[in-house]
Amino acid sequence: MLKHPKDVPGLISSDEGRWLSDIARGEIALEIGAFRGRSTAFIASTATFLVSCDSFQGQRQLRDDQAPVDFYEIEADYWHALESLGLASKVAVIKARSNDVYKSLAGPLHARLGLAFIDGGHYWDDLRFDIQYINLVRKGGVIAFHDYHGTRFPDIKKAVDAVCKPLSDALLPLACPGTIAAFRKERSIPDVSELPPE
Ligand SMILES: C[S@@+](CC[C@H](N)C(=O)[O-])C[C@H]1O[C@@H](n2cnc3c(N)ncnc32)[C@H](O)[C@@H]1O
Repeated sequence: MLKHPKDVPGLISSDEGRWLSDIARGEIALEIGAFRGRSTAFIASTATFLVSCDSFQGQRQLRDDQAPVDFYEIEADYWHALESLGLASKVAVIKARSNDVYKSLAGPLHARLGLAFIDGGHYWDDLRFDIQYINLVRKGGVIAFHDYHGTRFPDIKKAVDAVCKPLSDALLPLACPGTIAAFRKERSIPDVSELPPE
């Protein structure tokens, strides 16, 4: 029985989840990468509305320490979590690859999000597009990247640093738990474009 976001199985820690809940409170939020709905539940528990995007197709490639999973089961668990926790009415679920829907989401959401949480594809060919979701964050809002810290997924740090370091006068790094790196948009920035292929 799921009673609380921390009961939802998934790949973020409870500390990371609580941090996301705090940042999302009262905000319009977006996440890329939902899996069984753990980050979804933490964010939607406090956000006014959450756009949750997942292809439900997994990563482009599996590392040796990752076992294959059945994404029919993952998606069923995701819906079960949203329904059990009474969150479905404030989550818009986008079942698609994030780069395929960027343009259609950027229309209505440009500079409106209080939180964008990026935890989808962990390889360059996804991240080079996902970095553009920073354009949807409002002034004062936060963009957060899971698995930035650590050695498992070096493309995350590479893409984030390529875009965020040159904008350090506008993007304030935040203290975050776990593997999250996050930045508050202190000032408006010019729109960021997709990064080149590797
Ligand atoms: C690391 S898991 C997300 C974990 C989740 N945030 C949690 O709290 O447990 C990554 C998810 O991103 C999805 N994904 C991978 N690449 C994607 C892409 N380009 N667009 C959308 N979803 C993607 C996968 O299907 C998978 O469910």
